[in-house]
Amino acid sequence: MDTKRTRQLALAFFALVGFSVLINGGQTQKSGSAFSPMIPKTWDDEAIPNLEVPLAEPDASPVHVSSTYYYRMRVRPIYKTYPIYPIGKEPPGYWEWLNQQEPQDVFDAAKLKTKGDWVKAGELVYQAPIAFDGTASTSEVRDPAWWAKVGAPVAKDGTLPFYRYVIRARGKVEVGDLSCWNCHNRLMPDGTVIQGAQGNSINELTDAYKKRTRDPVEKARRAERVLFAAPWLRPDPQARLAQMTVEEIAGIHEAIPPGVNARRGTSSSFPVQIPDLIGVKDRRYLDHTGLEQHRSTGELMRYDALNQGAEFLARYGDFTPITVLSGKVPEPETQQRYSDEQLYALALYIYSLKPPPNPNKFDGLAERGQRVFQGEGCAGCHTPPLYTNNKLTPAEGFKVPEEHLKKYDILPMSVGTDPSLALRTRRGTGYYKVPSLKGVWYRGPFEHMGSVATLEDWFDPRRLRDDYVPTGFRGVGVKTRAVKGHPFGLNLSVEDRKALIAFLKTL
Ligand code: HEC
Ligand code: HEC
Repeated sequence: MDTKRTRQLALAFFALVGFSVLINGGQTQKSGSAFSPMIPKTWDDEAIPNLEVPLAEPDASPVHVSSTYYYRMRVRPIYKTYPIYPIGKEPPGYWEWLNQQEPQDVFDAAKLKTKGDWVKAGELVYQAPIAFDGTASTSEVRDPAWWAKVGAPVAKDGTLPFYRYVIRARGKVEVGDLSCWNCHNRLMPDGTVIQGAQGNSINELTDAYKKRTRDPVEKARRAERVLFAAPWLRPDPQARLAQMTVEEIAGIHEAIPPGVNARRGTSSSFPVQIPDLIGVKDRRYLDHTGLEQHRSTGELMRYDALNQGAEFLARYGDFTPITVLSGKVPEPETQQRYSDEQLYALALYIYSLKPPPNPNKFDGLAERGQRVFQGEGCAGCHTPPLYTNNKLTPAEGFKVPEEHLKKYDILPMSVGTDPSLALRTRRGTGYYKVPSLKGVWYRGPFEHMGSVATLEDWFDPRRLRDDYVPTGFRGVGVKTRAVKGHPFGLNLSVEDRKALIAFLKTL
C-alpha cells in the first residue's frame, strides 16, 4: 500500500512537472489527463502462495490452481443492469421495454482514458452480477407474496436495493446475483443507499425462501457442502447435513440477520459480519480471520478473484470444494473469471469509496468519551488515525506458531471472543484481526459474527452471561447465549459508557 508520504511526494512532483509518478504497490501509474496504468497480473504463480495466512490446521491450507488454468477460464462479460421496482410501481411500459433490450457488455478497457474513467468502470464491475436467478428470480420479484414474505425494502429512489435485473439474451430478463452490490450496499434508515458500507442485504432471507420453494433436498445439501465443508475438522461441523431437511437448512439461513452473511468458506452456523469496504485501502489483512494479506493493489485483485469463484477450485488437503458439484475439477474453459483490467478497475473503485458525511459532532460528551478511550487502553489495539493497529490476535485456544511472529503482524494476546469462525471453518487461520472503528456510526451489527446489534449492546456487561439474548446473530434455535470476550469498556459508569459511545460515533 502506498504511504501518505509517497502520495505527498507524488503530488509535489505533479505540481512541478505536471505529470506524476505514483508508486502504488510496485506499479507505476502515470496520471494527469491520460492514465496508463501498469496493471498487476492477478494470478501470478509466485504471488498466490504468499497471499494467504495458513489455516489453523496448516496441512489443510488451500493450494490454488495454476496461472495456466486460471487464464484459460473465460472472461466474464460485465452486463448492463437495470433497477427492480416493487409490484405496481414500475414506470409505464418498463417491463415491455426491458424485454426488448439487447445484452450489453459495458466494460471496455480500450475506452478508459483517465483515472476517473477507470473508477467509473470499476463501479460497473462492482454492480455486475456473476450468477443469475440465484437467491432471487424474476418470477419471485414480480410476485407480491415474495415481497411480503422476505420483507423486501424499497430505497428512497423507489427501487429494490441489493438486486438488479440483467439481460444476457434479448427477451429474457433475469435477476442478477452475487454482485458486490448484492452484499456490500447498506440501506440507511432515511432510504439512501451507501455503496460499500457494511451491507444489510436481505439475501439470507431470499435464499431461505428460494430453498423452501425451489430446491430439492439434495441440491440444498450440496450447496451447503460446496460453500462450507471443511472435512478435515474433527468433529465435522457438517456431520448432520446428510440428515437435514430443506426446512432445517432454510431455517439456519433465515436465522442470519441483515449485516451478517454465510459467505463461502465460513459456515451457516458461524456466519460473518459483512465488513465495511470504505477504508479497505489502509487495512493490512482482509477478512475477520485475516486470511488474506493486503500489501498492494494486486493483492486486493487476487482477493476478489478468489472470492468470486476461484476459491472453489482450491485443494484443501485432498478436498476440493467444486468437486461436490461436478465430481471432478472441471475444464477451465467451462469456468469464468474477471479480466485483470476488470479487477484493477474494481480495486480503484473500492479504494475511492468515501464515508458519508458524519452528522455526529465532536462535542463535550465526545471529548469526555475520548478520554475514556485513552484511559481504558483502547488505543493500544484501535490505534488512531485508522483506529486499528492492523494486527492479528489469536482466537481463544489457538497457539501462535513461532514462525508466525516473524512473518505476520501479531499481537500475541487473545481477546477471548467465540473461536468457532477462526478454528472451525475454511477461513479459519486461528486469528481475528483488530477491526477499525471508523464508521461505526453508520454500521452494525458488531463483533465478527454480528452477535450484537448496537454499540450500546457491545458495551453492556450483561452480554457475558449465559442468559443473554443476543440482539444480532443468535443462531437457529438459540434463545440465549453469552457473547463472550473483548472485556474492554464493560466496567464503565453509565455516564462514561455514554460518552465513549458518543466518541466512537464521531469516527
Ligand atoms: C454473498 C455476499 C458477498 C458478495 C457477493 C461479495 N462479498 Fe465481499 N465480503 C462478504 C463477507 C461476508 C465478507 C467478510 C468475510 C470474512 O470476514 O471472512 C466480505 C469481505 C470482503 C472484503 C474484505 C474486507 C475486510 O476488511 O476484511 C473485501 C475487500 C470484499 N469483500 C470485496 C468484495 C467485492 C469487491 C465483491 C464483488 C466483486 C464482493 N466482496 C462480493 C460478502 C460478500
Ligand atoms: C487487545 C486488543 C484490544 C483492545 C485493548 C480493545 N479492542 Fe476492541 N476489538 C479488538 C478485536 C480483536 C476485536 C474483534 C473481536 C471479534 O470480532 O471477535 C475488537 C472489536 C471491537 C468492536 C466491534 C467492532 C466491529 O466492527 O464489530 C468495538 C466497537 C471495539 N472493539 C471497541 C473497543 C473499545 C472502545 C475499546 C476500549 C474500551 C477496545 N475496543 C479495546 C481488540 C481490542
